[in-house]
Amino acid sequence: MRAKDYIMIMQNILHQVDEGVHVLDDKGNTIIYNESMSHLEKMDSKDVIKKPFKDVFKNLNQDNSTLLRALELKKSTYNKKQTYLNKDGKEITTINTTVPIIIDNEVKAVVEVAKNITKIQEMSHTILELQKEIEKPEKAKSKKIKTYNFKNIIGKSENFMEVINRAMKASNSPASVFIYGETGTGKELIAQSIHFDGERKNKPFIAQNCAALPESLLEGLLFGTSKGGFTGAVDRAGLFEQANGGTLLLDEINSMPYELQAKLLRVLQENYIRRVGGTKDIPIDVRIISTCNEPPNEIIANGKIRKDLFYRLNIISLNIPPLRERKDDIIMLAEKFIHKYNELYDKNILVLDDSAKEKLIKYDYPGNVRELENIIMGAMSMVEDEHLLTGDNLIIDESALNYIGHDNYNDIGDCGINEYLESLEREIIIKALENYNNNVSRAAQYLKIKRQTLQHKIKKYNIG
Ligand SMILES: Nc1ncnc2c1ncn2[C@@H]1O[C@H](COP(=O)(O)OP(=O)(O)OP(=O)(O)O)[C@@H](O)[C@H]1O
Ligand SMILES: [Mg+2]
Repeated sequence: MRAKDYIMIMQNILHQVDEGVHVLDDKGNTIIYNESMSHLEKMDSKDVIKKPFKDVFKNLNQDNSTLLRALELKKSTYNKKQTYLNKDGKEITTINTTVPIIIDNEVKAVVEVAKNITKIQEMSHTILELQKEIEKPEKAKSKKIKTYNFKNIIGKSENFMEVINRAMKASNSPASVFIYGETGTGKELIAQSIHFDGERKNKPFIAQNCAALPESLLEGLLFGTSKGGFTGAVDRAGLFEQANGGTLLLDEINSMPYELQAKLLRVLQENYIRRVGGTKDIPIDVRIISTCNEPPNEIIANGKIRKDLFYRLNIISLNIPPLRERKDDIIMLAEKFIHKYNELYDKNILVLDDSAKEKLIKYDYPGNVRELENIIMGAMSMVEDEHLLTGDNLIIDESALNYIGHDNYNDIGDCGINEYLESLEREIIIKALENYNNNVSRAAQYLKIKRQTLQHKIKKYNIG
């Protein structure tokens, strides 16, 4: 194939990708400016291609342009968050990687790849604003945001009460708490109880899920940002500052990016933070509660959490047993949920009959207390008897994930074992996603495969 054809193919590929791509040659002229980049910066590629970069983007220099840094200083920049105004005056935020292509010690070209995260950035700002709204307990009360304390926790089995007693003791100390429990076991409930029954109850309680955001945004969200740090950055307090004096709940800490974990550790050791791009050290006094839904020894072993950070977070460690290991709590919880939905649905169910109790106790609850609540809620919305809930009212789909379609089995002669297994795998993945409300992380956990693997399979089987 001729070099020219290769170039044509490359250009076509570049126009298909979601990331913006901008390439300069060694003289600083643009040689590639793909459609995503043009869409992002609202520049017509005709006005950019073959033109000197400095003529087109007049206000950029080595200090504020990673492309010029790469071209003139041979410096690479990885995953740098940039906020700037595009030609239409709209603020956009991108994550950029810019590298010089060096051949024989000379820069032959520089490549910039930009991922548009404007939407995610806006969402993160919204989260911060909302958090600020509810940061004060008085405000939370006035806005009727439900907060929990130990009185709301139901249970009597020995293993569970042991954990609750330790949690109660923890509420009166400032030490970090690490809560491990499967999904739906009540980690958030316990974290809130520790705060709202403790000495810090009149100070803010702020929760942040560590899996929800990419690293650079999570960093800004936690530690705040400072003007002048990078183009367009604004002065904003992060969650640490907002939670000062109170408690910060770091949910799903095992999903926090590894690099950021090191920064978190430093903050916890030194008790001050520095906003991203800032120079001032701000003292903080924040009690950290972290949660995780995978066994701690596993997340340490597979490198999802830094050992040093884990030991710093795990001063008081609470392991909440799954519901199937504390069956004594099931009926007590079921009755509490019946009471709750009596009020919500204006019903008057008074008893669970023996068939209902037996069915509830026998089940294993992969979704723990949340799943039990959903089962009761479903039954309460359907029940016709005035006062009685029976086993028949309870829809427990135990077979959902053990499903092997008989029809598929009959088809095996046509398609062979590989295709059959694939169709089975597809079926199981669809069911798992349904069961976990399309939450890929949870479904992956249930299926005991990596999240990325599941995502790959979802793509492969064209699910959703
Ligand atoms: N012991 C309990 N008593 C009363 N309600 C409970 C109890 N445990 C859990 N719940 C209820 O079950 C639901 C799930 O609890 P929570 O959100 O705290 O679980 P979680 O462990 O944080 O789950 P996830 O890992 O999915 O975030 C909530 O509605 C909570 O109020
Ligand atoms: Mg939770």
